[in-house]
Amino acid sequence: MNTKLPITGDTVIEQEMIQLASGQQVPSVGLGLWKIEQDATAQVVQQAIDCGYRHFDSACDYGNEVQTGEGLAASLSKGIVKREDLWITSKLWNTYHRKEHVRPALEKSLHDLQLDYLDLYLVHFPIAQNYVPIEERYPPGWFTDPEAAYPVVEADRVPIIETWRAMEDLVQTGLVKEIGVCNFGCSLLRDLMNQAEIPPAMLQIEMHPYLTQEKLTRFCHESNIGVTAFSPLGAQSYFQLNMAEDDESLLKHDLIKGMAAQHERSPAQILLRWGVQRGTSVVPKTANIDRLRENMAVYDFSLSDEDMSAIAGLNRDRRFNDPGDFCESAFNTFLPIYE
Ligand SMILES: NC(=O)c1ccc[n+]([C@@H]2O[C@H](COP(=O)([O-])OP(=O)(O)OC[C@H]3O[C@@H](n4cnc5c(N)ncnc54)[C@H](OP(=O)(O)O)[C@@H]3O)[C@@H](O)[C@H]2O)c1
Repeated sequence: MNTKLPITGDTVIEQEMIQLASGQQVPSVGLGLWKIEQDATAQVVQQAIDCGYRHFDSACDYGNEVQTGEGLAASLSKGIVKREDLWITSKLWNTYHRKEHVRPALEKSLHDLQLDYLDLYLVHFPIAQNYVPIEERYPPGWFTDPEAAYPVVEADRVPIIETWRAMEDLVQTGLVKEIGVCNFGCSLLRDLMNQAEIPPAMLQIEMHPYLTQEKLTRFCHESNIGVTAFSPLGAQSYFQLNMAEDDESLLKHDLIKGMAAQHERSPAQILLRWGVQRGTSVVPKTANIDRLRENMAVYDFSLSDEDMSAIAGLNRDRRFNDPGDFCESAFNTFLPIYE
């Protein structure tokens, strides 16, 4: 569905929204905040609001929630936007899965973001790590003890339902409107739904034309779970981390470039439009003002059914963000979750 969202000055952007089971609506394009440098974050958040962004995808682990909060507070205090017009997501880090740690973790994110509630709180990974107290190290990251001679990721034995019950309590207290998960597959989702009193409202997963996740997306849509695509530009986020090969750029793919020329759009806009048109939310990250505008300008054109199928045909089940790979190379620990 479409909603007109007025933004600064006279500009009005008609954004498409995805509707959750509760009836809550999420702007289908949000700003991803992973890897935005701390000293740039507050300004980028304000620029994004000025460009029409109303949906922000944050997380404890991104290490910039304080600066995100400064940016949000500045725009809110100037009256550029109202709190109820924003959709703010954050994520529970792996070290806080035990039931007694969930609420303090959420309260820390709320404090940093200068908010009194979140629209959506997601379990970041189906991985429970040993607890690291907030006062000891924040954000805690992947290592239990980064100073150890051979630092590793230490798993904790916490069932997902224990974490989920504590997430449900956050909804009951009004600190969070919706709860969901990231990086889950159908089996974990089914098990969670079988036990949940409040079903997951949203699944956030890596998704782009090289990883189309057709069955998982269909399962979610048939189960009334909204879907958010992270890394919607594919390899783009992973070059700087040496987690993608030079020839894996979707922005340079002939099919995407051809469609971009045909629609007089950029390759990134084609990828984002494809995500929006599939009924998913997309949360592209950029710290660049021109690309902020570019990534939001995907509501005034559409792809044909043939375009949509041709893009989906690029799928090669290529996952760039896989703990089964990066945890071993970067964190000395073999930690597969998708196999
Ligand atoms: N739940 C999870 O486990 C998880 C995992 C990964 C990501 N996420 C979320 O998803 C968000 C997006 O994913 P992502 O950051 O991995 O990848 P992405 O948004 O697909 O790609 C970001 C990269 O593309 C560049 N870029 C952005 N817009 C562009 C454009 N129009 N043209 C060319 N290049 C462009 C950015 O550089 P510039 O900044 O220089 O523009 C950056 O290098 C994250 O920020 C985070 O919020 C969640």
